[in-house]
Amino acid sequence: MRFFEPWWVRESHISVPLGLGELKLLHLSDLHAEPMPLGFLREQIDRALAWNPDFICVTGDFITTKYERWDEYAAMLAKLSAAAPTFASLGNHDGGRWARFHGYSDTSLVRSMLERANIALLHNAQERLEIRGRALRLVGLGDDWANEVEPVRAFGRGPSTVRDGPEPVIVLSHNPDTKEELAPFAWDLMLCGHTHGGQLSLPVLGEPFLPVRDKRFVRGLYRWESRWIHITAGLGSLHKARFNCRPEISYLTLT
Ligand SMILES: [Fe+2]
Repeated sequence: MRFFEPWWVRESHISVPLGLGELKLLHLSDLHAEPMPLGFLREQIDRALAWNPDFICVTGDFITTKYERWDEYAAMLAKLSAAAPTFASLGNHDGGRWARFHGYSDTSLVRSMLERANIALLHNAQERLEIRGRALRLVGLGDDWANEVEPVRAFGRGPSTVRDGPEPVIVLSHNPDTKEELAPFAWDLMLCGHTHGGQLSLPVLGEPFLPVRDKRFVRGLYRWESRWIHITAGLGSLHKARFNCRPEISYLTLT
């Protein structure tokens, strides 16, 4: 649980039919620098970039609790943005209301690190992208446990499932429990982390520590209300422990 599995990273290749004709999206999440050592994360990032993604999304939990090695961390994450346009959303551990109970509530340190790493934080904000002649829209939400999910601000309009343009819409939202709140808006694929795939997946008991209300959504690609939801098990592990639930680099081919 501690000495082997948290370091035994699974590389998952998944196709998502979005009408985009083979765009390569690297989906990472839950790096949890401390307890995860930067050396381990650096190795995984190098490995993931060998796939040559067209763009990269990181769905939160960059840290676990108070953190200090910001310069080194920013330099490491800058490898992502040097390889391809990189976007992020925040998780519950990155500061905000929930993190206050862990002795810190300020998201500014994570925000400024992302800025230095040239990673675009989409915090209730969106961005239109064009990659190899194909357009898509990315919409990033704040974190659910921090009570910072503001879809009207993120989508730039009131609830409507009529889309603004023909391009597919990809949502970055740390916690998959936000899906119902986002359902009245137009999107095609939601990228999430947060669950760590359950982190401990036990025979008979299943995933007793799954930190979501809707226990059906654990890891992998799901079809939900004519949309797709992808939950990656994430790279890091709380308490550096995993059982029957390897950490994950997710390679999504948007076909
Ligand atoms: Fe996490």
